[in-house]
Amino acid sequence: STAEVTLNTGAKIPQLGLGTWRSTEQEAYDAVLTAIKAGYRHIDSAAIYKNEAVVGKAIKDSGIPREELFVTTKLWGTQHKDPAKALELSLKRLGLDYVDLYLIHWPVAFKAEGFTTDEQFLSIPQNEDGSRNLDWNKENPKEGWNFVKTWELVQDLPKTGKTKAVGVSNFSVNNLKELEAAGLKTPTANQVELHPLLPQNELIAYAKEKGITIEAYSPLGSQDSPLLKNETLKAIADSYEVSIAQVLINWALKRGYVVLPKSITASRIESNFKVFDLKEDDFNKVTDLIKVEGEQRFIVPDWSPFPTFE
Ligand code: A2P
Repeated sequence: STAEVTLNTGAKIPQLGLGTWRSTEQEAYDAVLTAIKAGYRHIDSAAIYKNEAVVGKAIKDSGIPREELFVTTKLWGTQHKDPAKALELSLKRLGLDYVDLYLIHWPVAFKAEGFTTDEQFLSIPQNEDGSRNLDWNKENPKEGWNFVKTWELVQDLPKTGKTKAVGVSNFSVNNLKELEAAGLKTPTANQVELHPLLPQNELIAYAKEKGITIEAYSPLGSQDSPLLKNETLKAIADSYEVSIAQVLINWALKRGYVVLPKSITASRIESNFKVFDLKEDDFNKVTDLIKVEGEQRFIVPDWSPFPTFE
């Protein structure tokens, strides 16, 4: 799909992008190059994926002019106190002058005193007892560091020219409402896990009202997804002679989200990009899967103080 969505900055974002989480450097390089050749113009990366250098290299090697591509990267929890510096380091690794979108990866800061190297910054810091070293006071979230302070810094980054837009990721409705209550800028986007078994209706309604673009990660239900084995989806896919993944991607596109399927397999990268007309009754069958299967969340970090998006 080459469709685009307009962001609250006025810029356009290609509605279908390539996710790059959970791949080795070589895999990420090949995937990005394959995707751009197949017509993708939107690549989603993150500092913690540790693939920014190869993503940037693949972008260069593709020969497609920078301004025709939409590139996102994300701020990791160790660098919430200095996002401007973190963005500069990301750009250096990417070999780019700017990104199109910079997101706070999670609403969770880690303690990172004395950190200086990429290896330290791009990690999940642990206490000696193995617990996660959160820079967050659960009993009193107003004390110490929290994501509202991070956003206060991040909201101004577009002024530096190093990112065209800023947003968040893995933020709940409550997290977003805290930013609003603090009188801060409305994030341009919120990237969350989103698929038929995790439709996030409350979050979607809030985002729509506020003009926040929703980006769906793990639209296929992530690794070992039960969706990819679902019989209802299989029957729908067969009737169009497409894959289950394509049904899921087209369902999400039809709901108006930016969709970020991840694949490192060339044939899948190519077929995932192909749109077809998912008819209304099939669209509804996909929407109704949750009534049968129940909600399923695939990514629940053991360190997150926000165990659900509500
Ligand atoms: P792979 O990268 O080995 O091709 P999600 O985007 O929901 O997190 O899902 C990513 C997972 O889905 C990866 O394991 C990816 O495998 C797999 N995947 C991506 N596209 C397809 C497809 N068209 N058919 C089956 N599995 C797919």
